[in-house]
Formats: sequence, C-alpha cells, structure tokens
Amino acid sequence: MPTELPPTPIATPLGVDTTPISLTPAAGTDLEPVWSAVVPETRARSNDIHLPISLAYAERLCAAHPEADALLVRVAILLHDTGWGRVDEDRILTEGFTGDWRRAAIRYEHEKQGCLIAREVLPPLGYDDGFVDEVVAIIDGHDTRKEARSLEDALVRDADRLWRFDHAGIALASGWFGMDPASYCDRLAEEIVPELLTEAAITLATSELDRSQALLKTGVLR
Ligand SMILES: [Fe+2]
Ligand SMILES: [Fe+2]
Repeated sequence: MPTELPPTPIATPLGVDTTPISLTPAAGTDLEPVWSAVVPETRARSNDIHLPISLAYAERLCAAHPEADALLVRVAILLHDTGWGRVDEDRILTEGFTGDWRRAAIRYEHEKQGCLIAREVLPPLGYDDGFVDEVVAIIDGHDTRKEARSLEDALVRDADRLWRFDHAGIALASGWFGMDPASYCDRLAEEIVPELLTEAAITLATSELDRSQALLKTGVLR
C-alpha cells in the first residue's frame, strides 16, 4: 500500500549505505520472473544498465525507509522505463534528450507504454489488480509529472536519478545529452541533486558523485 508523502526533503529514519553501488547488487530472486518477462524491453535506451542499477539504489533507499512498501518500489522501478522498448527508437535521442526533453511527446509515450507493459506482465505472474494499479500509478508520469504522490513514488523517482551518479550512469547519460563527463557531473550537482526528494538519496548522490569525479579525473579533464 502506498504511504502518504511526508514533507520534502523526506527525513531518513535509518542510516543509508554509501559504499559503491556495485557492492550491493539488487538482492534476492523474487523479481527474476519480472525481469524475464521484459528482456526485449531492456534492450532499448540501455535499460539493461539503467534498470538493474536503479533497482539496486531503490533497495538501498528502501532499507533506509522501512516504512515504505518495498515490493511496490522495487517492481515500479524495475518496470518504469520498459516503455522505451515500444516507442520509435530514433525519436528517443532526437526528442527525449534535447530541448524541453522532460515534456517531449516521446516521454509521455514511453510512460504510457510502460503502464501497458506492467498491466500485461504482472497479472500472469500472480500480482493482484490492486498492486498492479499502484505500480501503474507510479510509472504514469514518472518523468513528466511534477510531484510525487506517495513515499514509494518519491523513492522510485530518487532511484531513477541516483543511477546517474555512478560512473556507469555518467558514462551513458553524458553521451545521451552530448556532454563531456566533467560537464555532466557539474550538471548532476547543480540540477539533479536539488531535485532529490529524500535525505537518503541526497547523501547517496553526493558520496557517489565525489567518488565518480575522482575516478574520472573531472578536475583536470575539462
Ligand atoms: Fe522514464
Ligand atoms: Fe528511468
């Protein structure tokens, strides 16, 4: 069940693990059937990198927020961008990452397709209608809606941003936006950190960014 959204930035009840995300891949095997159902959709827009890393971050956020419905967060983040697999691939980079990219028509389309995919794959795997509705409510508008509607929605939004602070995320996303890694790291600090909704995510983002900038030598490679 979704938890009511506390005031933002949402205070974190427990400490958060800030070690490199590669040390804590997403745990357990309960979501393997969901992964298996969306393999073709993970081939679009590097979802096969973005989604597993984002799920690992989502699990860290859930560990810091035991009051959240972790299964809802985990399933929603796993599926949130699968809709990229069912839109015109050529338009992803030409429209989805340039100009007013957050409001581009292709963004609404990938959200809509993601909702359809959730409704298609989850019921045969035993997820009930109420749960599927909650997953869809988070996927719908995850990029284009301004506000989060629940704590679980906020944790999905934060996990969706946190993966970019890892060096793999910087490598991929800087290319999407046609930026060099150092400029992209500057953008993460200036634009993306202020968008984070939980204290846990802010702590994770800043420690991960410090590490990535040192690793990529962004102080001199600019
Ligand atoms: Fe998205
Ligand atoms: Fe995403």
